[in-house]
Amino acid sequence: MTERLQIQNLYKIFSAAPEAALQILANGGDKNTVFDKLGAVVGLNNVSLSVPEGAMYMVMGLSGSGKSTLARCINRLNEPSAGKILLDGRDIVPLKEEELREVRRTRISMVFQHFALLPNKRVIENVEFGLKLRGASPADRRRRADEVLSVVGLARWGYHFPHELSGGMRQRVGLARALATDADILIMDEAFSALDPLIRTEMQDELLRLQRTLNKTILFITHDFQEALKLGTRIAIMSEGELVREGTPQSIVLEPGSDYVAAFTREIDRARLFDARSVMREAAPILRSESGILVGGAEAGDPGFVLDGEGRILGALDGAALGHARQSGEIGTPSSDYVSVPENAKLIEVARSYRNGAPMAVIDEDGRLVGTLGVGELLSRMSSTSPKTASAGDRHV
Ligand SMILES: Nc1ncnc2c1ncn2[C@@H]1O[C@H](COP(=O)(O)OP(=O)(O)OP(=O)(O)O)[C@@H](O)[C@H]1O
Ligand SMILES: [Mg+2]
Repeated sequence: MTERLQIQNLYKIFSAAPEAALQILANGGDKNTVFDKLGAVVGLNNVSLSVPEGAMYMVMGLSGSGKSTLARCINRLNEPSAGKILLDGRDIVPLKEEELREVRRTRISMVFQHFALLPNKRVIENVEFGLKLRGASPADRRRRADEVLSVVGLARWGYHFPHELSGGMRQRVGLARALATDADILIMDEAFSALDPLIRTEMQDELLRLQRTLNKTILFITHDFQEALKLGTRIAIMSEGELVREGTPQSIVLEPGSDYVAAFTREIDRARLFDARSVMREAAPILRSESGILVGGAEAGDPGFVLDGEGRILGALDGAALGHARQSGEIGTPSSDYVSVPENAKLIEVARSYRNGAPMAVIDEDGRLVGTLGVGELLSRMSSTSPKTASAGDRHV
């Protein structure tokens, strides 16, 4: 995957003379030291992150941790004090006003928490707004606005006024406006935070659905960890202007790395976060015969499965039958009493299909066995964090 957007050692000091503050930070001071000595607020302190093309990259953290400052630096509503912002490898920090306006118009769109719609303009004119700034012809603007309004499910609402819409619908208009310009990077700052819970869930589902076809690169800012887990392909967690943890949703819950991050993960419903693949055990071949290939786990009591030449399951052997097969070198007669679950099934679904005593197989989308699942692992992963080591590419700062 190519890196669409990279932030490198970015600093934002809210001060007319940031140099002294940068010096204090370089010498190991933090946000509080700078404030005590200079009275200047550190918005961002040496933030580096990298957003691959097509990612739904979540930036999460408590109020005041610097999330909006980061978004505003990317869009240059805030001027960075030091560091680089690379768009497709090109640093946009040194760009002149003119070039910068071009980048903002064509590459990056923003959606805010309270999206300011023009109250006296109809919905469709609101959606056209960015296109007008780009100099699109009236006919092209209208056609494009029509298109994106139906994308967000508001096809019939173009000629209404904003006050005739609910909060959720207005937020959809904001999203349509951001989509209309065809910018490939969307920055969404608490875009759903003001919505009531049901509408919010609906908007999250909508965004996931849209993203499957649009494939934009999305930087999504939220203070809600559940939202970050649900939407994110990666999550960056901020505290006091610093990035303190970065990784996939599952790895952050498994390995928070600090009390600050652990506090967010405590209430998480692990059964809905982890999938069968993340807890399964690999099954290794044990015996081959004309009737099939016997595979099974290494531990006593692990079940075995008999597979055809394609890796599809012909039947199962329970722990005792597997032990017997190992000793005799004969596969014997496999049983059809087993449960198979898709590798991407969430643990809650796995638990629902569990049958007492029946061996559990994890299969891929072609029906081939990829691993086996024991009830012990299933329960322990659902109930707590495990001391597994962090995945490759994870960052603990
Ligand atoms: N224009 C400004 N002038 C001075 N300080 C600012 C300015 N904007 C933000 N800050 C400070 O920068 C820090 C980070 O603020 P920011 O708005 O980025 O936080 P946030 O993580 O988005 O919080 P929230 O979840 O409340 O939106 C805060 O300490 C804030 O007071
Ligand atoms: Mg904010």
